[in-house]
Amino acid sequence: RGETETSIDDEGYYCYGDGHLHTSQPCRFFAIVIDAGSTGTRLQLFRFVHSTTARGLPFHAEEETFHEVKPGLSSFVGRPHEAAASVQELLATAISIVPLKLRGRTPIVLKATAGLRLLPGDAAQRILEYVNTTVRSSGFVCLNNCVGILDGTDEGVFSWFTLNLLLARFYHDSKGNEVDPSPARSAAAFDLGGGSTQVTYWPSSGAMFDAHPSYRHDIDFFQSHMHLYTHSYLGLGLQSARLGVLQGAKGEKEGLELESPCFPPSFVLPKWEQALKEWSVRGSPEYSLRACQQTTTDFVRRSEIGKLTDLRGSSHLYFFSYFYERARQAGLVGEGETKAVRVKQWRDAAEKACSTSSFPSDVPHWLPWACLDLSYIHALLKDGYGFDDDQEIIPVNSISGMGVSWALGSAYSLVDEFHRELALEDIEDDVIRDQRSSVNATGVELVDSFLTVLSQKTTDVLAYFNLVS
Ligand SMILES: *[C@@H]1O[C@H](CO)[C@@H](O)[C@H](O)[C@H]1NC(C)=O
Ligand SMILES: *[C@@H]1O[C@H](CO)[C@@H](O)[C@H](O)[C@H]1NC(C)=O
Repeated sequence: RGETETSIDDEGYYCYGDGHLHTSQPCRFFAIVIDAGSTGTRLQLFRFVHSTTARGLPFHAEEETFHEVKPGLSSFVGRPHEAAASVQELLATAISIVPLKLRGRTPIVLKATAGLRLLPGDAAQRILEYVNTTVRSSGFVCLNNCVGILDGTDEGVFSWFTLNLLLARFYHDSKGNEVDPSPARSAAAFDLGGGSTQVTYWPSSGAMFDAHPSYRHDIDFFQSHMHLYTHSYLGLGLQSARLGVLQGAKGEKEGLELESPCFPPSFVLPKWEQALKEWSVRGSPEYSLRACQQTTTDFVRRSEIGKLTDLRGSSHLYFFSYFYERARQAGLVGEGETKAVRVKQWRDAAEKACSTSSFPSDVPHWLPWACLDLSYIHALLKDGYGFDDDQEIIPVNSISGMGVSWALGSAYSLVDEFHRELALEDIEDDVIRDQRSSVNATGVELVDSFLTVLSQKTTDVLAYFNLVS
């Protein structure tokens, strides 16, 4: 800031060179979202470009760079500097991609989800303090609270936003005609993380909120008033559910040695780390789909999940994260494939998995868990959300090269916040500018012209993003 800008550059990045936005040129900029999940920390670096279409958002993401490091930050309890080092690796990737001159104009956030939410005491805070220092010294722009814990509602709403944006459900119908957003055309988003699972959709009527008034989240977006049904079930993510299933109704009293009919009798896993403890897991002579299903169904029933009666028969149910990963590993969908599968296919896949009688020592780590995981997912869909066996659901990983997760929705919010922050700074800079009689075009005016273009379309977007979190 304050330096004279060069003119529109060859790559089309941030092209406000002479104080005017050249809408004839593609203008590009970046935003960085780091998703600190329970099983891994993921860099999602988005490159945005101005869009000049008549209807829709004023900018759109055209490319995503993804880089994941494992394990997740919650594994570094008592070793916060190692947590910071794992984040440093992701920052190095971002630094290698964002052109140097844009580094100070690229906003960044790091948000932790269920893994850190589940940590006891101040363990999460200690880790975040170290990570905070690392992120803040990266050279990217850290606005208020750029490092913190993402609330379960924001996680659900941002994912829903990402999904519907990528499916282009908001303002165009399937033939490309301009339409207003509607519940009937919007897609329902189901996310299965390690520590929590989220559901978010736009019900056609308010009746769904009678049983769960707190699951309602109202937003205004493109002149549409939307009341979303959203909830994050903490402890029902795949990893935390495994522990819940293994412990059964007795819970903690069982001690650290767990036995389960979801593993063959000969199976022994001497060390399984979960929830900051080291467990041992053994198979059981009762090993079978039926016996395993009993334990997963009991667990799901104890969890009191709201039945989604009004979604029965819908053809717009999208399932991502672990839902997609397990569907792919079980062969229900191919790599990168997006097609509907029926709820009963999860049961069939579980049945197949639950008939494996032994595992060689070099199997992938998830394979011995497949019987339990697939039984759990089937129970969640059937006994939790209340779908019947013929209900079609769509496992999805990415759309148009962009990952389906809360990150993209959050990146839109971040870009918006960043531009508004710059606009506020302008007011102060105007005073300074008046004192000097003449200066060349600086970042200040450049952002002004950017906002002028944006403001015609973004008023509603801003209103929307103000309501989230
Ligand atoms: C990160 O650092 C800033 C500035 O020192 C501080 O205001 C903020 O509370 C810190 N956040 C966390 C999560 O430690
Ligand atoms: C403004 O830019 C012109 C040409 O780019 C340069 O000659 C002049 O010195 C600059 N003025 C200031 C105040 O920086």
